[in-house]
Amino acid sequence: MTGIPLDPVLEQSSLSGQARSSAILITGAGGEVGHGLIRALWESGHRDIVALDIRRLDRELRDLCLDTFVGDICDSALLGRMLAMYEIRVIFHLAALLSTRGEFSPEAAHDVNVGGTMALLKLAAEQSRSHGERVKFVFPSSIAVYGLPDLATKRSAGRIGEDQYLEPTTMYGCNKLYCEHLGRYYQRHYRQLAKDRIPDVIDFRCVRYPGLISADTVPSGGTSDFAPEMIHAAAQQQRYACFVRPDTRIPFMTMPDAIEATMQLARADKSRLRRTVYNLGAFQPSAGEFAAIVGEHFPGAEIEFAPDVERQAIVDSWPEEVDDSAAREDWGYAPRHDLATAFGEYLVPRIRARYASS
Ligand code: SER
Repeated sequence: MTGIPLDPVLEQSSLSGQARSSAILITGAGGEVGHGLIRALWESGHRDIVALDIRRLDRELRDLCLDTFVGDICDSALLGRMLAMYEIRVIFHLAALLSTRGEFSPEAAHDVNVGGTMALLKLAAEQSRSHGERVKFVFPSSIAVYGLPDLATKRSAGRIGEDQYLEPTTMYGCNKLYCEHLGRYYQRHYRQLAKDRIPDVIDFRCVRYPGLISADTVPSGGTSDFAPEMIHAAAQQQRYACFVRPDTRIPFMTMPDAIEATMQLARADKSRLRRTVYNLGAFQPSAGEFAAIVGEHFPGAEIEFAPDVERQAIVDSWPEEVDDSAAREDWGYAPRHDLATAFGEYLVPRIRARYASS
């Protein structure tokens, strides 16, 4: 089994040694990333997955988990019940309201995206203190943390590094950026003036995903959804009206590469991590180029472009390409799929099989 290793913290607490089963917690477990991550963890030998989602998980996913909880990540009574039963050692905190949905109810997005993350960071710090090992906190952030001021800047900026253009225009982007900072704070500075503080109380690791494309699930509520929606519509012989212009370019990656990268970062040797936050990129077709490839694989696909001004503005504020050299150097990030193999080896065969059997 390729388990997720842990670091000891410096102080042991009086609670360590109590008999609760040790567990990996996945929040937002029923979402797109959760689906892939639960399967990947199970395949790598983990039988200690505890899943939390606002909705009941599919039977297939429930069978891969040691236990599942249905409820709100901000519900402290629910988190308390979970802690009474499990010693949480690793957290993959995936639950979030994405960028399009968040613009219809920004306060609700803030509650889930920031409130939920705070609740889990606090839980992680308490767990680290109680069981004498640093809880590993793996957090997916997003290209939505970027905010390029205009199209001319976006087109001339080249590959954007982690610390550039951090002026997000969506509530989701603001929330993710702030939570990146909270994670860094909890890891390095939490209770920095308290006499009994534990240094580096949690082990916070964060990846910034580009747009994700899965063959198995269709996203909802995001603004990079046009690419996955386009290919899933074509496979079902449905017309698709793309909500951005054909020249719109942002980075994407396949879901298996996103899952693999997330697990790789979780397993990476801490001493090699120079940052808490890492960009990930793989390929960056324009929406028009993406439509052309969809058309090659699904002849007869009917794709039109009907840009939505507001959603277009959000995508226009995201980079064309990200600089992911830190991830490559520090922990060996190397996505398997480029644009051609994403279609030829992963998306097309799997999506065809999916809709042929449904
Ligand atoms: N996929 C996300 C969204 O569109 C970006 O990370 O909101």
